[in-house]
Amino acid sequence: MVIDPSQFILESADTVLKTLRDRNAPVSLDHPKGMVLAPVSLVEIYLKPAGSTKVAQVMALSDDIALAVKNDNARITQSGGKLIIQIPYGPRKPITIESLYAAPSAPYTATLGCDLYGKPIGLSLADPSTPHALIAGTTGSGKTALAQAMVMSLCKRHTRKEMMLVVIDPKADRAPWFENAVAGHLGPPIARTPDAAIKVLRQVVKHMGGVSEPVTRLVVYVDEVADLILSGGIEVQNLLSSIAQRGRSAGIHLFAATQKPSAKHLGPLLTANLPVRLVGRVVNASDSALACGQAGCGAEKLLGKGDFIFVDGARVVRFQAAMPQGYQSGGSKPAQSVPVPDWTAPAQTPVIELPAPDEPKPETERLDKAQAAAIFWYRKANPKPDGYTQTELARVIWPDLKTLAGGYIPRIKKIIALANQIQ
Ligand SMILES: Nc1ncnc2c1ncn2[C@@H]1O[C@H](COP(=O)(O)OP(=O)(O)OP(=O)(O)O)[C@@H](O)[C@H]1O
Ligand SMILES: [Mg+2]
Repeated sequence: MVIDPSQFILESADTVLKTLRDRNAPVSLDHPKGMVLAPVSLVEIYLKPAGSTKVAQVMALSDDIALAVKNDNARITQSGGKLIIQIPYGPRKPITIESLYAAPSAPYTATLGCDLYGKPIGLSLADPSTPHALIAGTTGSGKTALAQAMVMSLCKRHTRKEMMLVVIDPKADRAPWFENAVAGHLGPPIARTPDAAIKVLRQVVKHMGGVSEPVTRLVVYVDEVADLILSGGIEVQNLLSSIAQRGRSAGIHLFAATQKPSAKHLGPLLTANLPVRLVGRVVNASDSALACGQAGCGAEKLLGKGDFIFVDGARVVRFQAAMPQGYQSGGSKPAQSVPVPDWTAPAQTPVIELPAPDEPKPETERLDKAQAAAIFWYRKANPKPDGYTQTELARVIWPDLKTLAGGYIPRIKKIIALANQIQ
């Protein structure tokens, strides 16, 4: 089914405004009012609280909003006192990591995928605040595909001397092609059992003391990390914790993927030292809070299969994860090729103008009269010898209005004309 995105935005925005008005939490549309984003195929509607509405009030109504727009995956987030509603509306385009190899990238940056505007984004290991990453999400969310893509992008851009790789992955047998792709950078062979993992991790921690062969950076990628800790016990937990805690200064970086990102499964020291979270779809809001390390990120509303958020303290950025071309969950045969965005093209985000609030519904006639009355009484109560400008009067009814433009101009003209008729 082909949906016209501008129609979709108009209808969705209307529904959201009405729903919140009915719940006594009115909001107004903020500029840019509606956008179609790629490659995730979402529309984004910007809102700000009106009157005495609080941001938290609207956040608490997220289920009502999802119900009203008939989409369980409608995701509401807040930023700087404003609200953003993201509603999926169409099919997504997968992105292969290979298609992003040529994108400009700073040294030691693991490519993650593309942001909603189609711009490649990465995790800079050279940045002292983002040396490691905990990759979380439910099964099928795309953790392994993302971790492998990150590792492959680093291998592609660096020599073995610049970057060596350690992989611990009990499911590695299912992806021999990945092993081939990174073979030139592998330090020890891929560890597939807890015993092998312990040995490798001991070596890595020893390397932190500067004992081993000199390489500039060492990337340690551990998949199914909670399972490894469960079977490997406290020693594994301690080894991983010390890498997360002290690895950065030794040029050692940890990418750990798991379905169970809690302190209960990983230990408090490890979770506390992995502040960067790459989170795919999770089951519910409390899992989202655990995975993201903070509430309100809405990972339970993500779509799975590479729809991720990057959480780093206050920064929360949604992105479509890149996936190795040949990636099939556990499979070994290469997938057929998938369409990729042209990253050289400037990101184009069509902004769709919505009509001014409440226009042009029939019910607005009543509202027009009420707003005209508000202006009438305002002028009466605050007489101004030179009279009021249109903008000043518009702010009487839309207090948050910055500039009078677009659909607001005919609206305010009409309302002032009505106000002038009041005797
Ligand atoms: N970035 C992506 N783009 C498109 N599809 C993806 C992407 N990532 C994953 N998928 C799809 O989802 C499937 C599962 O991905 P993946 O194996 O990475 O999940 P996972 O989170 O590691 O799951 P598990 O916890 O069971 O290991 C893949 O086989 C692929 O079909
Ligand atoms: Mg996996």
